[in-house]
Amino acid sequence: MIRIQRTILVSISVLLAAILPFTPSAKGQTPARPRDDAQAGKAWPQQAVRAAHGMVATDEELGSQAGVEILKRGGNAVDAAVAVAFALAVVEPAAGNIGGGGFMLVRLASGKTTFFDYREVAPGKATRDMYIDKDGNLDKEVSVIGYRSVPGTELALKTYGTMKLPDVMAPAIRLAEGGFPVSEKLAREFDRERPGLQQFSVSARIFLNAGQMFKAGDTLRQPELAATLKRIAKNGAAEFYRGETARMLARDMAGMGGLVTLDDLGHYSPKIREVLRAKYESGAHTWEVLTSPPPSSGGVAVIEALNMLQGVPLKGWDDPQSVHIVAETMRRVFADRAEYLADPDYSQVPVAGLTAPCYAKELAATIDARHASTSKEVKAGAPHACGVSAKHDPAPQTMVSLGEGPHTTHFSVVDAAGNAVASTYTLNDNYGSHVTCSAGFLLNDEMDDFTTQPGVPNALFGLIQSEANAIAPGHRPLSSMTPTILLRDGKLSFVTGSPGGPTIISATLLSVINWMKLGMEAQAAINAPRFHHQWLPDHILMEQQFPPALEQALNAMGHATKRRGHIGLVNAIGIDPQTGERLGAADPRDDGAAVGY
Ligand code: DON
Repeated sequence: MIRIQRTILVSISVLLAAILPFTPSAKGQTPARPRDDAQAGKAWPQQAVRAAHGMVATDEELGSQAGVEILKRGGNAVDAAVAVAFALAVVEPAAGNIGGGGFMLVRLASGKTTFFDYREVAPGKATRDMYIDKDGNLDKEVSVIGYRSVPGTELALKTYGTMKLPDVMAPAIRLAEGGFPVSEKLAREFDRERPGLQQFSVSARIFLNAGQMFKAGDTLRQPELAATLKRIAKNGAAEFYRGETARMLARDMAGMGGLVTLDDLGHYSPKIREVLRAKYESGAHTWEVLTSPPPSSGGVAVIEALNMLQGVPLKGWDDPQSVHIVAETMRRVFADRAEYLADPDYSQVPVAGLTAPCYAKELAATIDARHASTSKEVKAGAPHACGVSAKHDPAPQTMVSLGEGPHTTHFSVVDAAGNAVASTYTLNDNYGSHVTCSAGFLLNDEMDDFTTQPGVPNALFGLIQSEANAIAPGHRPLSSMTPTILLRDGKLSFVTGSPGGPTIISATLLSVINWMKLGMEAQAAINAPRFHHQWLPDHILMEQQFPPALEQALNAMGHATKRRGHIGLVNAIGIDPQTGERLGAADPRDDGAAVGY
């Protein structure tokens, strides 16, 4: 318990505001791993789901249905997105909880775009070296704390929604109160997460059926969560930050030795940030990429990579040459990520330089078309805007290695008018800290996204990040979440994003390349095999779908390779340019569901 107490942190995020506590303590926690739950042998859909009006694509059918219910009742994409976010908080406890944080990218049919940042923030009592023990070593077991907020979603709803909070929260409240049938996937997950969940009495009672364990088909009811959702529906996000829910959370924190206080909760606020944009020519069309600004590292990385790939003739992922060039691009982009990205409210992030086409050209020129480079020789570059020379030679200290990844969820919504939402949010690890507060929701362990000790990999992703991402009260930890929207000739074309820690960036980038540059059908763009290179460790991580011959060809070029079952879970929506139909492409890797009407 002492260890757990040390671990509790809170991050605050905007969605609905919550706060969060913990870090997964290593003791009793199953090793972090990506969810890889698509049922063995279940055939993947080969075509996207088509619908004339609206479409919602999420990890869970019940979550997608909640969004469609709101669309059919006349709500717009933002109303539906808020409904989905709350519904996933009930039916996808691994990731969709209100005790985490995230980003929501909105593009209205009018052309207006907004980025809602409800990322968690470190509590007031957080300190830079809070995870370093008396001997100066990083205690990885305690780095998972966080707190978050619910205000993000409410802010989005107030800004662009047309319905009231109680209306959009109705499906979530129904699911929490009346219960829903536990799927095979969920029953498997509870079983897998048992070592972590059983350490905490509220978690064990709710998710492990007080030790009896749930079977597929059993009903999961969450009365405490239902009561919390009802209070939020009635009182708004203020309930989460200053109301009874905040008091419950603060009491739990104090009881368990967590750092989040009522004062932290009361001071949290979501932020509206400017959307990152870049234009490309491809296939005789002009494309605009709208994506996530810092504290996401993903939008900068995706634009930097697409800039480097301008004019590169990619053939597809059965072509070793194409995989090689994109992997080398990822290597360089991740070297820059490690060096330069952090909370923009407290650091000068050189976004303009990193996303400048001429800087990308210089970086691309360092790629050997036939041979792999090594991450020993590839360091972060010296980003600069076009027409401005690089100011300094960076001396990067940072290194990255890849851990296996935890949990987060991405969903996409498009309504009948063409308004679109791309939203990704996270508890960080699967089931976050595994701690469920007395208000019935799981707390995140987002603190591990900070640089827990410069030069030492963080616990969940093995990321070694820069000093600029160090822990400090009120700072937002750097994120990889990358909700992204594409326009083709000025019109909505593709809505995408993914979970997966650092692999979020690669999975999102590949979905964009598949749709925009390779012209794949929407479902094919999601099904296509994925790979990832994050500079360090120096290998290409490849899904099992790649044939051995392709791996051998990469090895012959000098690439080390490693296999992983699945990378990312991209729930995307494309727009058919001919018919305007919405093409729902959920990720079959985890039995995602696209529902339209
Ligand atoms: O914000 C981030 O980058 C991480 N907390 C995301 C974690 C994640 O995607 C785990 N998912 N599978």
